[in-house]
Amino acid sequence: MLLKNCWYVAAWSKDVGRQLLERTIANEMLMMYRTEDGRAIVLENRCPHRNLPLSRGALIGDRVQCGYHGMEFDPHGRCVHAPGEDDTTLQWACVRSYPAEERYGWLFVWMGNPVLADPKAIPDFHRHMVDLEWYSVTGQAFAKCGYRLVLDNLLDLSHTAYVHTSFSGNPEVAELAKVNAEVVDGMVRVTRLMRDIPPAPAFVKYGGYNGNINRWQVGRYSAPSFIYIVNGSTPAEQSLDSIDTTSSNGRWGWEVYHAVTPETDTTSHQFWAVSLPRKFLHESMHQEFDHQAVVVIDEDLAIYEAQQACINSDQNPLASDVSDVNAKGALKFDDGLLKVRGIIRRLYAQEQRVSTEQRKAEAH
Ligand code: FES
Ligand SMILES: [Fe+2]
Repeated sequence: MLLKNCWYVAAWSKDVGRQLLERTIANEMLMMYRTEDGRAIVLENRCPHRNLPLSRGALIGDRVQCGYHGMEFDPHGRCVHAPGEDDTTLQWACVRSYPAEERYGWLFVWMGNPVLADPKAIPDFHRHMVDLEWYSVTGQAFAKCGYRLVLDNLLDLSHTAYVHTSFSGNPEVAELAKVNAEVVDGMVRVTRLMRDIPPAPAFVKYGGYNGNINRWQVGRYSAPSFIYIVNGSTPAEQSLDSIDTTSSNGRWGWEVYHAVTPETDTTSHQFWAVSLPRKFLHESMHQEFDHQAVVVIDEDLAIYEAQQACINSDQNPLASDVSDVNAKGALKFDDGLLKVRGIIRRLYAQEQRVSTEQRKAEAH
């Protein structure tokens, strides 16, 4: 269930340069590079002549030269040179070019109908990951699982109690959280509030707590696959006025930003950043915190990759959609992720309806 009429993060901007970078997104092979004046270009990674991926070729100025028979394409995907041919305006000799925009240190690509590509549709993702007042750890992971399993993970943070026991988890996070999930303006917000619970290891080590705390996790999802989570805390004796701002509202906490980009139905790219106000983390702890952030990502990866392997092995013909989770039931905590799956299903059905109508119109 891969959406096309939407923006996905294709790469960290810093990774797109004067080399041809190949990446598959939503089952389509892409190639990225920068022009000499620094513009990010995304083209179909397939030569229209004999199907060699163009990323096997070379960048000559702003043109891509195919590594097989030397056809050259400009940043719009138009053929501007065909060796031995007088006519370079060959009708068939073009590659698809994809709308691209850069925000927050990421390169976004629009995979669907280019006419619909509105930069204003790029989610207003929080910018702390590029704010110098905040300390950020960033990374990228490749997950051998469908992107919805990654979203599920991020929308039900009760798992921290069992998966991230060396950092943010203790049993109270699952047992004592008051959870609320709601849809607001097409986005899903999941709020988890835990009052007067013992601090998990990260809150002791980096937050300096030695007594009970109030703790909150607020996750926000926007389509197709962006998640922003605030983790905050106060000492248990302090009253909680508002939890719906940044983690700096409390005494200690952090924020996470995830962009989950499907590669195929059962593989995904995960771009992430963990940020917190610099005053929340002494410089001497940066290295350890960086390491811990990667450990947390790896712990989650191990879970959803194992889920996908389990789904792949399912012999039940009624549960044969390997891109879905095929669950037998739901827990209360699944409310948020089920709302998100509902939004994705609706958007997907809408896209399918439009493309069927287009096909019918073209046939007449
Ligand atoms: S395969 Fe690219 S020019 Fe022939
Ligand atoms: Fe996790």
